[in-house]
Amino acid sequence: MSKYDYLVVGAGLFGAVFAHEAALRGKHVKVIEKRNHIAGNIYTKEVDGIQVHQYGAHIFHTSDKQIWEYVNQFAEFNRYTNSPVANYKGHMYNLPFNMNTFSELWGVRTPAEAQAKIQEQKDAAQLSGEPKNLEEQAISLIGTDIYEKLIKGYTEKQWGQKATDLPAFIIRRLPVRYTYDNNYFNDTYQGIPIGGYTQIVEKMLDHPEIDVETGVDFFANKNQYLADFPKIIFTGMIDQYFNYQLGELEYRSLRFETEERDVDNYQGNAVINYTDAETPYTRIIEHKHFEFGKGDKGKTIITREYPANWKRGDEPYYPVNNTRNNTLYKQYAELAKQEGNVIFGGRLGQYRYYDMHQVIHAALVTVNKISNL
Ligand code: FDA
Repeated sequence: MSKYDYLVVGAGLFGAVFAHEAALRGKHVKVIEKRNHIAGNIYTKEVDGIQVHQYGAHIFHTSDKQIWEYVNQFAEFNRYTNSPVANYKGHMYNLPFNMNTFSELWGVRTPAEAQAKIQEQKDAAQLSGEPKNLEEQAISLIGTDIYEKLIKGYTEKQWGQKATDLPAFIIRRLPVRYTYDNNYFNDTYQGIPIGGYTQIVEKMLDHPEIDVETGVDFFANKNQYLADFPKIIFTGMIDQYFNYQLGELEYRSLRFETEERDVDNYQGNAVINYTDAETPYTRIIEHKHFEFGKGDKGKTIITREYPANWKRGDEPYYPVNNTRNNTLYKQYAELAKQEGNVIFGGRLGQYRYYDMHQVIHAALVTVNKISNL
C-alpha cells in the first residue's frame, strides 16, 4: 500500500483544487498528469512577455463571491471584460447581440426600433410550432439577419454539422441585450489573472503534502494504481477509464495554430470570431489584449482556432451533450458508482461542459463530501 491517501489523475483545475484542499486537511496526495505540464486546459505560457493561452481563450467569470475570493488567493486579477467582435465577410459587429450590433446591422438607434426589426424578421420567417432544429430555434429567437450573419456559419463550423441537422436545444437562449453594452458575461466578477493561469495551479500544488509527476499516463499502470492507492480522483475521460466498454462518448476537438507577428497590435481585440462558413477557423485570439497590450514592443502572438472532429488519441475539448451521449454517460456513471475507491471529477470525468468557476465549485464540494465521510 502506498504512503498516499489519494492519487489525483490529472493536474487540471479540478485535480489541483482537490489536491490543495485535501493537503490542507492533512492528507498526503500524489498527482499524476499525462501532459508535460500542469494546469490542464487553463495552461498559459509566457512568450515575448505575453501570456499565451495555450488551449484557447480563458476568461474567468462568476457571480459567486466565495469562488471569486477563493481564486483570488492564488493570483491578482485584472479588469478584463470579455467583449468579442464578429467578423462576417469583412464587416465587424459587436457581440454579444446588443444595441451596438443592431445599430451596425440596421442603423437603428433605440431599443424599440431594434425590437421592431427583430419582430418583423421573425414574422416574415412564418415559423410555427416547436422549433425542429437549431436554425428554426435561432430565427424564432433573433430573426434571420443575425442568424445568417452571426450564428449560422460559426455554429456549423463549431459542430461540424448543418444548422438544420443540429438539435434546437443547443441554443435555448441567446445573449440578447437592448443596451449598448458589449460585456459578454452577466456575472458580477470577471478578469484574467495577472501573470497567467499556470501560477494558480502551481500555487495550489505547492504544498509539502503534494507530490506531482508530469508525463505520466494513468492507463500505463492502471491496475497497479488501483491496487496501491486507497482512493483515486480521476479527471480523465470516463469512457476511456472503462475501456469504452459501453461505446464511445463523442467529443469535439480543436486545432490551435499559433504564430508570432512583428507588429504591436494585429487585430485590436483579444477575440475576433469569424462567423462566415468559408473561413475555416472560428476565431483568432490576440493574447496580449487579455492584459491590455502587455508584452514586448513590436511583437504580438495570435492563435487561430479550428474546430475538429474527435477520434481516439485526439484532445477531447468539448463533450457533445446530445441525448445519445447523455444517455451513454449515465450508463458509465452507473458503472462508476460500483468503482468504490474511484471518484470521477471535472470536465472529462463527469462529461460536462464546466467553466472554471464551476469546476472549482465542484472540486470543493467533492473534497468536503469525502472529508466528512
Ligand atoms: P482539464 O482538461 O483542464 O484537466 C484534466 C487533466 O487530466 C488534463 O491536464 C489531462 O491531460 C489530464 N489527464 C487526462 N487523462 C489522463 C490520464 N489518463 N493520465 C494522466 N492525466 C490525464 N472556462 C471559463 O470559465 N472561461 C473560459 O473562457 C473558458 N474557455 C475555454 C476555452 C476552451 C477552448 C476550452 C476547451 C475550455 C474553456 N473553458 C473556459 C473551460 C475550462 O478549460 C475548464 O473549466 C477547466 O479547464 C476544466 O478543468 P478540469 O480539471 O476539469 O479539466
